[in-house]
Amino acid sequence: MTDTQKRIEPFGVEIDLLTGAMKDFDNYKKTMASTMIPYYADTDAIRDLVESQGNPIHYEVFEKTIPEAAGHIRVCISKLLPGKVGGEFFMTKGHYHTVLETAESYLCLAGEGFLLMKTSEGRCLWEPFRPGRLVYCPPSWAHRSINTGSVPLVSLCHYPGDAGHNYGDIVEEGFPKRCFDRGGKPAFE
Ligand code: PA5
Ligand code: NI
Repeated sequence: MTDTQKRIEPFGVEIDLLTGAMKDFDNYKKTMASTMIPYYADTDAIRDLVESQGNPIHYEVFEKTIPEAAGHIRVCISKLLPGKVGGEFFMTKGHYHTVLETAESYLCLAGEGFLLMKTSEGRCLWEPFRPGRLVYCPPSWAHRSINTGSVPLVSLCHYPGDAGHNYGDIVEEGFPKRCFDRGGKPAFE
């Protein structure tokens, strides 16, 4: 490990495997519905949701502080609330890793949904989430969580410390597929 990579002491953290609650987290990031306006197909519907519900939380991330450096593994809990915007299931913004050659593993702890993944060449695949199912997102694949259930979708994520988050390309490109409620079932269109 180089001097620029912070050395930290070993530590442990309690995670409730049923609810995903992380005890004594250091960092908390909440994403409000208003910041999701550019992401949904039905812009009027997400604007209405923001206004009628007072800009509620859309999703949250809880984590311990781990250096953003090669050699480390960042660990976080991602919690995406349930709901729909014009029939499209609630989702996260989604991102590529800034260092494209970095993967991520998602272990679903609660709820149901999908991890939607795409490459810059336009390949798009999705893997189901249900409690106890691990989804592996290989290097170079952008990823977005989708909650198709009625309770929060909670995942435990691990990814390299130096991966970084590139949101800009997804704002520009979007994903080739969206997930809608069609007669009570998720459909990718
Ligand atoms: O590391 C990840 O990929 C996740 O923890 C996400 O950051 C989390 O689900 C929030 O999504 P996003 O980063 O796309 O806003
Ligand atoms: Ni990621």
